Amino acid sequence: MSETSATSVTSATSATNEIVVEARDLQRVYSVRRGLFKAPARLQAVGNISFSIAKGRTLAVVGESGCGKSTLARMVALIEKPTAGSLRLVGADAVDPPQARRRELRQAVQLVFQNPYGSLNPRKKISSVLEDPLAINTTLGRAERSARARDMLARVGLRPEYANRYPHMFSGGQRQRIAIARALMLGPRLLVADEPVSALDVSIQAQVLNLLADLQSELGLSYLFISHDLGVVRHIAHEVLVMYLGHAVEQGPKSLIFERPLHPYTQALLASTPGLSSGRIVLKGELPSPLAPPPGCVFNTRCAHATERCVAERPLLRQLGGRLVACHHAEKFLEGAPVASADLSLAASKRPQP
Ligand SMILES: Nc1ncnc2c1ncn2[C@@H]1O[C@H](COP(=O)(O)OP(=O)(O)OP(=O)(O)O)[C@@H](O)[C@H]1O
Ligand SMILES: [Mg+2]
Repeated sequence: MSETSATSVTSATSATNEIVVEARDLQRVYSVRRGLFKAPARLQAVGNISFSIAKGRTLAVVGESGCGKSTLARMVALIEKPTAGSLRLVGADAVDPPQARRRELRQAVQLVFQNPYGSLNPRKKISSVLEDPLAINTTLGRAERSARARDMLARVGLRPEYANRYPHMFSGGQRQRIAIARALMLGPRLLVADEPVSALDVSIQAQVLNLLADLQSELGLSYLFISHDLGVVRHIAHEVLVMYLGHAVEQGPKSLIFERPLHPYTQALLASTPGLSSGRIVLKGELPSPLAPPPGCVFNTRCAHATERCVAERPLLRQLGGRLVACHHAEKFLEGAPVASADLSLAASKRPQP
């Protein structure tokens, strides 16, 4: 059953563009063993998430550790199958595609991981890291594969002759550039980036984010960008999806969500991000276990505005103030002063705002 009372979650700005990925009520449930003699428990890592990303746009997914961001990323990257829901990539069904279409779809979406040290095989030269996908998936000859690898290194801001080196000869930021180059070798339409800059120094973060932005405008790429850091999200996103305990609590254009967050959880996340708020709201308590989510609103155990209704009745995602929000009391945040200030923690970067 859909959790969204509104029919569309695509932003007005992207409505005229080609939709590259469209997810409807995506769900992932794990069966978790808790002991030898106990029945397996049901853990809903992702519950009924819907979104679409147009060509050349970035949807950022934010939320605390364990809220289901990576599970969502793995489903969209076709690594893991959803338990329920639909997923369309470049117009085709990506949950159960015909065999002939499967390889094509796998090339259309590529993943960039958080850890630039673990994601490159230390025994492989950069030339084979970049050329292997071409050797496996195309009929290109050796000379052309090598030329494309060198060209891609230049595109990500590295010297073509670095192709002859091994991963240990590079810094973290350079390795992440190589990982991005590898992801682009087969000409994908969508990059799923799971915390791609979280392991890097702040100054290097800004450079890699700028590179991603440049590649997006050059190649018309779409990004599903996963991060727990709203400072980073503010820098790269066009649209934002805020997750809590597997559910979308607020979702819409970045500018609206940062200027006037309507969900108390989004407000708390912004307030706890250095440089983004006056720090008035403190998020208390632990994240509840996903094995025993609270009844009603999933955020009610930590919410300063929770009432009896929030414990009794689960709020649906609904249209309000230009975005979708799942809170019974969201109207009261529509008026008054903006909750977050407009400072930018990554202001050092030269990237123009999307
Ligand atoms: N293969 C699995 N089997 C069982 N439970 C899983 C599995 N993968 C993830 N989970 C659970 O699903 C929930 C969501 O995990 P996920 O890794 O998607 O969160 P996350 O938001 O990416 O967290 P982080 O910010 O720490 O990376 C967690 O409770 C996690 O323990
Ligand atoms: Mg994760």
